[in-house]
Amino acid sequence: MKVDGKPFRTIWRDHASGNVAIIDQTKLPHAFVTAELRDVNDAWRAIADMQVRGAPLIGVAAAYGLALAMRADASDANLAATADYLATARPTAVNLAWALDDMRRVLAPLPPSQRAERAFARAAELADADVAVNEAMGAHGLAIFRELASCKNGRLNILTHCNAGWLATVDWGTATAPIYKGHESGLDLHVFVDETRPRNQGAALTAWELAHHGVPHTLIADNAGGHLMQRGEIDLVIVGTDRTTASGDVCNKIGTYLKALAAHDNGVPFYVAAPSSSIDFALYDGTDVPIEMRGEKEVTHMTGATEDGRIETVRIAPEGSPALNPAFDVTPARLVTGLITERGVIAASASALARAFPERVRAAA
Ligand code: MRU
Repeated sequence: MKVDGKPFRTIWRDHASGNVAIIDQTKLPHAFVTAELRDVNDAWRAIADMQVRGAPLIGVAAAYGLALAMRADASDANLAATADYLATARPTAVNLAWALDDMRRVLAPLPPSQRAERAFARAAELADADVAVNEAMGAHGLAIFRELASCKNGRLNILTHCNAGWLATVDWGTATAPIYKGHESGLDLHVFVDETRPRNQGAALTAWELAHHGVPHTLIADNAGGHLMQRGEIDLVIVGTDRTTASGDVCNKIGTYLKALAAHDNGVPFYVAAPSSSIDFALYDGTDVPIEMRGEKEVTHMTGATEDGRIETVRIAPEGSPALNPAFDVTPARLVTGLITERGVIAASASALARAFPERVRAAA
């Protein structure tokens, strides 16, 4: 996507230095800054500290991290140790393990002398594949948008949670791919953006993206979604996923479940943009997904820009009050209207997933 007219992806190889470049998402929306990853520790930190975040981007960042490690030491021992190390950066998004497994499968049969070059090439292939997958989901999602728009007069009102935008992927986004495609093709749409406490990915990232692409949008407090649905002001909800299980349970950013409940109660379609890289065919029940617990400070404090442009963090809770910060929750499959995958829109069920991705089910068996 473009930032001030210049095309960007969220991660790329800087061929001059040979290192990996990223957009540092911890600085948005106040500053657009890129950062360099020089070694595997930089890559681990970038994922853990959420300079790069969003399930698909975490996977590709880990692949590049492994490539940086192979440049330093391409031995069998380092390949195995680095894959295990990178897998610890964040626990919930299955794309991390998926990308590392892919890299190991491609690199392990090669002699160490060939591994670094092939690792960078494979990471670039995974990045390109992510872009293609998101584009395909965009086309499938747009068909749903068009159908819903044809049933009403006036603009289509969409609600989204967290950031499943181009910043969460290599490009296009998952939930935002049909939004961008619809907007570009002249569909009259408007997006309600959940702020997404505690880290505010909606306010800081999704709103920033949509503003940069001229997509009509309105930022809302997380708690406003149910009210808007009751008043008929939301036509559909679309979110991303960090790990969808083989039965169609959807793990995504904390608060997604509450939106799904409200959507169900109000008859609002609830769609999940789920690339196959985010589907864990080895795990059946959503309650078994490991949920990342993050620091209390994300709940007790907030960071923002002052009127004169200084970035400051302030405490919003009484000193000493403990806080709990689960980063994700699980929406049961029964609350999901459909999964938008790169192979089409399917039911959130074990049978539909097995029909759409038989090779993945076989591999997981
Ligand atoms: O903690 P984050 O910001 O990495 O969480 C991101 C989300 O929950 C996204 O909705 C999910 O990764 C899908 S991204 C296309």
